[in-house]
Amino acid sequence: MAGKKLTISDFYEMRDQGKKITWITAYDYPIASLSQEAGIDMILVGDSLGMVVYGYDGTVPVTMDECIIHCKAVRRGAPNVFVVGDMPFGSYHTGDSDAVSNAVRFVKEAGMDAIKLEGGVKVASRIRAIADAGIVVIGHVGLTPQSSAALGGFKAQGRTAESAEAVIADSIAVEKAGAKMLLVEAVPPELAGSLRNIVSIPVLGIGAGADIDGQVMICGDILGYFQAFTPKFVKKYANVAQVIVKAITEYINDV
Ligand code: KIV
Repeated sequence: MAGKKLTISDFYEMRDQGKKITWITAYDYPIASLSQEAGIDMILVGDSLGMVVYGYDGTVPVTMDECIIHCKAVRRGAPNVFVVGDMPFGSYHTGDSDAVSNAVRFVKEAGMDAIKLEGGVKVASRIRAIADAGIVVIGHVGLTPQSSAALGGFKAQGRTAESAEAVIADSIAVEKAGAKMLLVEAVPPELAGSLRNIVSIPVLGIGAGADIDGQVMICGDILGYFQAFTPKFVKKYANVAQVIVKAITEYINDV
């Protein structure tokens, strides 16, 4: 679907027609513009930029100012794509009012079409406050990397009955609070699939199987240029790292 920028209504229509929604992360102008050229439906300026761009061990150190800079670059690269800004750790944890102020920055300063934040039951009032400010919110449940320390590491969620119930409760809380879409990360495919019958908003996933309304993938993983680690579910569509090393080696040899 290249061309015009899609809206939330288009995503609901795609879901109703059984058309998968495609979503990729991008953090800079080139990947954003190439993703637009390829016809991607949505871009996420994920706080995964902490690892993919800055080389941190996780997403926790990422700041609002870093996110805004990358969102602006992506916006310029993909003016016709629905772009989602990812709220970093600390930007919505201190209260509803801080959450709204920071969400507003994503829209006003960086031209984002929506924001995403992690959590369910515990952040329901934040989602409600941001949605009430007229900003499109996407919830993120299951494995929530910003709280990986509390979860005991980057571990799959929803594998026990108790954990699956928590994922379901979080998903319901996200929808009730006013989120327009749900991202579910690293849960069993059956659980992710069942969420489609539990909530009425589109369910997108990462590491959550194919029985959902769409997928998001980290650009550095599927393009093969982020080498620190690769989750098992990732399919590499290119080996950009190899191409770059080869090209730079040839340049060095030419000089
Ligand atoms: O920051 C990110 O890239 C994410 C992924 C899990 C999609 O939230």
